[in-house]
Amino acid sequence: MILSIESSCDDSAIAITDIETKQLLFHKKISQEIEHSVYGGVVPELAARLHAEALPKILEQVKEYFPKLKAVAVTASPGLAVTLIEGVTMAKAIAVALNIPLIEVNHLVGHIYSLFIEKETNFPMSVLLVSGGHTQLMEVKSLTQIETVAKSMDDSFGESFDKVAKMMGLGYPGGPLIEKLAKDGDRLKYNFTVPLHQSPLIAFSYSGLKNAVRLAVSEAGEDTVLYKDIAASFEHIATKHLIMKLKKYFKTNRPKNFAIVGGASANIYLRGEIKKLLAPFGATLYLSELKYCADNAAMIGRVAIEMYEKQMFTSIVQLDITPKSAI
Ligand code: KG4
Ligand code: ZN
Repeated sequence: MILSIESSCDDSAIAITDIETKQLLFHKKISQEIEHSVYGGVVPELAARLHAEALPKILEQVKEYFPKLKAVAVTASPGLAVTLIEGVTMAKAIAVALNIPLIEVNHLVGHIYSLFIEKETNFPMSVLLVSGGHTQLMEVKSLTQIETVAKSMDDSFGESFDKVAKMMGLGYPGGPLIEKLAKDGDRLKYNFTVPLHQSPLIAFSYSGLKNAVRLAVSEAGEDTVLYKDIAASFEHIATKHLIMKLKKYFKTNRPKNFAIVGGASANIYLRGEIKKLLAPFGATLYLSELKYCADNAAMIGRVAIEMYEKQMFTSIVQLDITPKSAI
């Protein structure tokens, strides 16, 4: 079995995965959404302190598995350096205490493998990762053959939802809050410009849209009824931007197996629009189970199985968290 730890942002999670059967034997996550909500975003130092409290509590519950552990896996990058270090320190301690190898997992690869929890992999696949930290399109052939073909030049898709929610004083995380508000709004009421619509680049950008929304929120003033229309129009344009860039990409790279992963892949409107886009190509859309879209340790454990089989271990001395780990 492998014990896996995730602490790259505001979720403390530990999983136990069976190497042979890929079965998820234990998974527990303690989220810090309420604690960060008043600030409208994640406060790194507060997050680190909450991880230091939550992770040992969860670890206490998996002690019975210790004699059966063959390795310990941990998210080592990208993420907030001060929170990554909490998980990494715990993983190193377990590796030393139980004399088992340490596996260093990339969080983004983890999101890709959230598609395959308790399942076999299904590569090659084109994967759109939409999370709070990243918006990127990848061509994935295998664990070690991952090519990034497009990414955001500034904010990410999920982050733009968080920022719009903060402007409206709604709390954090903004994705589900904006999605809910948008349901009763008019998507066409605000004609926000689609980011990079005239650019031939296959890249993403959300800072311009965010500023346009800021203006609309400030003009709406106290008229919070308009917030529904702003939320709906924002969600529509934020999604349209992804669709337009994917359409461009598909002109030369016909999709076959396509997946959306990451916290924001839970967005229903986005899922629907991507489904429509893929239909004429006869391409199949793969999605993670809803409970594994956002950060979790089950996906880290799933990657770790593959890495364990390939003996991709890291020495305890080598694994170090620096500010660079954020990238
Ligand atoms: O993957 P994730 O849990 O953490 C990162 O790796 O960043 O993604 C969290 C992000 C947040 O920005 C959150 O607002 C966004 O995913 N999100 C959504 C939805 N649910 C979560 N964005 C849009 N619509 C949603 N339903
Ligand atoms: Zn994530």
